Amino acid sequence: MSITSQKKAVETKVLASFSYEPVTLDKGYAGRTLRVDLSHNEIRIDPVTEKMKELWVGGKGFDLWLMFKEIQPLKDEISWKHPGNPICFGPGPLAGSVEFPGAGKTIVTSISPVTETIIDSNVGGYFGPYLKFAGFDALTVVGKASQEVMIYIDAPKRQVSILEANIEAKDSHLIAEEIPEIFADNELDKRNIAVVSAGQASEHSKMGILNFSFWDWRRSLPRLKQAGRGGIGTVFRNKNLRAIFTRNEQIMPSWTIEKSKVVDEFEEKVKSNEGCCKNTVDEINAIIEKWDTNPEYVIEMMQDVQERFRHVSPIAIDTIAAKTKRPKAELYHIATFYSSLTIDKKGETTIQVCMGTACHVKGAARILDTFERILDVKAGGTTNDKKYTLEAVACIGACSIAPVIKIGEKVYGNVMSKDCQKLLKKEEANKKEVTNG
Ligand code: FES
Repeated sequence: MSITSQKKAVETKVLASFSYEPVTLDKGYAGRTLRVDLSHNEIRIDPVTEKMKELWVGGKGFDLWLMFKEIQPLKDEISWKHPGNPICFGPGPLAGSVEFPGAGKTIVTSISPVTETIIDSNVGGYFGPYLKFAGFDALTVVGKASQEVMIYIDAPKRQVSILEANIEAKDSHLIAEEIPEIFADNELDKRNIAVVSAGQASEHSKMGILNFSFWDWRRSLPRLKQAGRGGIGTVFRNKNLRAIFTRNEQIMPSWTIEKSKVVDEFEEKVKSNEGCCKNTVDEINAIIEKWDTNPEYVIEMMQDVQERFRHVSPIAIDTIAAKTKRPKAELYHIATFYSSLTIDKKGETTIQVCMGTACHVKGAARILDTFERILDVKAGGTTNDKKYTLEAVACIGACSIAPVIKIGEKVYGNVMSKDCQKLLKKEEANKKEVTNG
């Protein structure tokens, strides 16, 4: 049997496959774990009892419980290459939220031959939540494959497979790119795939890290999170595993935040603004319609609102929530999570002072002080006349000309405190020119 990718003409041989029934998560628990034995091409489900849930709370609890069950054969020999050395993956009981890149933590465990103890690493990426939403509280991988393989958990098809690893990529960041390319149905579907892979270095190093990647659909590239403790990547590679990946359907969280103190405060703000801005609401509605009122695109809607109004106002959140039926608290969470979105109105022009390492050592703090003094506003604030917002930011990406600042879209390098006033004057002059021109 083989799987032929719909997107790329790649045929992947299936070495073992296992179908399973769907489950509905109960208070965040699927009530079962998945075990894959690579030596025997065996895939099975083990039940999770109420007693286990009481005793082994959370991702680490489940990992330890699974590790202890597998540890017996390792009594007399512990090595990086021992096929019996298990690797366990345990998302927390609710597996974080899949709404925010990197927010879904997974605990991954194995045994270190160096310390002869269980090593654990806590890592982001979507693998944990996706494993949970595929219907498993944790995953154990044991054994060693006789050829290079991948484990594929296909949640929409309710199928777990061991596949021949016919991917070209060796390095984990390339594997993270190639797998969504092969297995996603289309560009948007790439975000439903989360990949775990060890880099090339793990083949040669005893302390290889393990990478958890997810597809950042806004930037159209994979982003990597690393489980860096004591050689988990090396144990993974020694199983002849190139990757483990899950694919899900469009996931909406199985729980929502309906109420919070912050939302109550925010309701007050909405009330105080009611009736004042019909045109504004019309424009916001037009933005929502541009995205087909699809709740999947609330972030894109908020980005458009931010661009148009220089903030995502309480009225905007209220309107988007009413139209898309997404809870206000969740939208508020998104609007305060991404630094490119702001609840309070930004100034016409944003001044960013880079505080990254290169700029820091070249006196960025003095430049920030100077702007704070000239504008009479602290970093993060907006001047009373709403002309400028001052921000202290991490590396702008122009370290060779540190210290660096950005005024609007213009980047200035080798800036000294004495230049700040001049640069502001220049900005004012430019604005005047645009207005008059
Ligand atoms: S550290 Fe400032 S631009 Fe890189």
